Amino acid sequence: MPPSPTFASIEAMLAFDRKHVWHPYSSIVDPPPVFPVASASGAHIELEDGRKLIDAMASWWSAIHGYNHPRINGALHDQISKMAHVMFGGLTHRPAAELATRLIDITPAPLDRVFFADSGSVSVEVAIKMAIQFWASRGEPAKQRLMTVRGGYHGDTFGAMAVCDPVTGMHGLFSNALPEHIFADRPAIPFTANWSADAFTNLEHTLREHCNEIAAVIIEPIVQGAGGMWFYHREYLRHLRHLCDELGTLLIFDEIATGFGRSGKLFACEHADVAPDIMCLGKALTGGYMSLAATLASADVAESISCGDPGVFMHGPTFMANPLACAAATASIDLLLESPWQENIARIESTLRTNLAPCAKLPAVNQVRTLGAIGVVELEDAVDMHRIPQMFVDRGVWVRPFGRLVYVMPPYIITDQELTTVTSAIADVLRDPPLV
Ligand SMILES: Cc1ncc(COP(=O)(O)O)c(C=O)c1O
Repeated sequence: MPPSPTFASIEAMLAFDRKHVWHPYSSIVDPPPVFPVASASGAHIELEDGRKLIDAMASWWSAIHGYNHPRINGALHDQISKMAHVMFGGLTHRPAAELATRLIDITPAPLDRVFFADSGSVSVEVAIKMAIQFWASRGEPAKQRLMTVRGGYHGDTFGAMAVCDPVTGMHGLFSNALPEHIFADRPAIPFTANWSADAFTNLEHTLREHCNEIAAVIIEPIVQGAGGMWFYHREYLRHLRHLCDELGTLLIFDEIATGFGRSGKLFACEHADVAPDIMCLGKALTGGYMSLAATLASADVAESISCGDPGVFMHGPTFMANPLACAAATASIDLLLESPWQENIARIESTLRTNLAPCAKLPAVNQVRTLGAIGVVELEDAVDMHRIPQMFVDRGVWVRPFGRLVYVMPPYIITDQELTTVTSAIADVLRDPPLV
């Protein structure tokens, strides 16, 4: 028997939520409006009042197949009838091993050791720990710092925050609590522009200067996500890989946002044809069903860690390799690989490019850019988050901007007609957007 509902009405639920429940990056005193969702299916989110919104966010990069997919639902039903969870210390199970085989098969060649973590941020923490333990095992314990580029975003936990952009990230607020890492300039040359070797000089000088103290360089390949929705040139990654090889520095790719096809390649690093020593995956890993992440390492990294003192890798969360999440992830990967995902992404890219281009002429707009199934309209000024989501909801779409960025990364199953409704709503709202 389902429990009887606590709230007599949706209004009562919303009043409770507003007072007691924190939402992401939000005030508990003056929260912006939230919209109550009753269900979600395919590319639609249905609100409690019956309105249906076309989803342009894929729940922050994750719901790549849309919602309520029968194949992933089925995998979860099967798995829950066996077990929802068991500890991973001293035990193992088919869902974890099955998923690990898939991840090893589809990620670049040297990555064949898998550590399952609970969320993207935690997988970044794990990657950082791997890099530091690697050097400690190799007798170079001084290599404890990370290097990264400005404009990055790697998560909200302390280790991850410390490698987010130092200005737009949370460094100011937590400065005394964060380790100090080393930052190079943002990769300045756009994805489609002509390459110029000068663009790499700043990183090269900085890494050469500090390589004796740097455990690893961490970077989002090709697409800088929450730190600015910026698409940079593939040559940058190639130069970075060469330099790390020359100096013996580990390279971590954070593919948490870009993994599983979003940029037009299964993993964004494939645009540059380079592989990292450590890779973080999350978000779309389970098709957006539940929280699961993975940190993959090369055999060299994993074995070095395990050969040094204390002979083990020092991480092991309670819900590591949760069988339900692993079953959802395996179903999601199989579904993706069996689908014409490249065609879908190319179709979405072309529709976004055509339909968003006219926005570039609007006075409020600074730049429009698209890559794969990602469309970005960068404004001159930040939008008013108390008002703008409502304007999109009024137009039947779910678009949630942040700061100066109105961006979409829809489920891959979205139709051209649905996408056109989304892009028309964006053009309409941005004609006269409410600003802060
Ligand atoms: C590139 C990147 N890394 C890490 C994270 C953090 O992932 P999570 O929110 O699952 O902790 C995100 C989330 O937006 C991300 O985009």
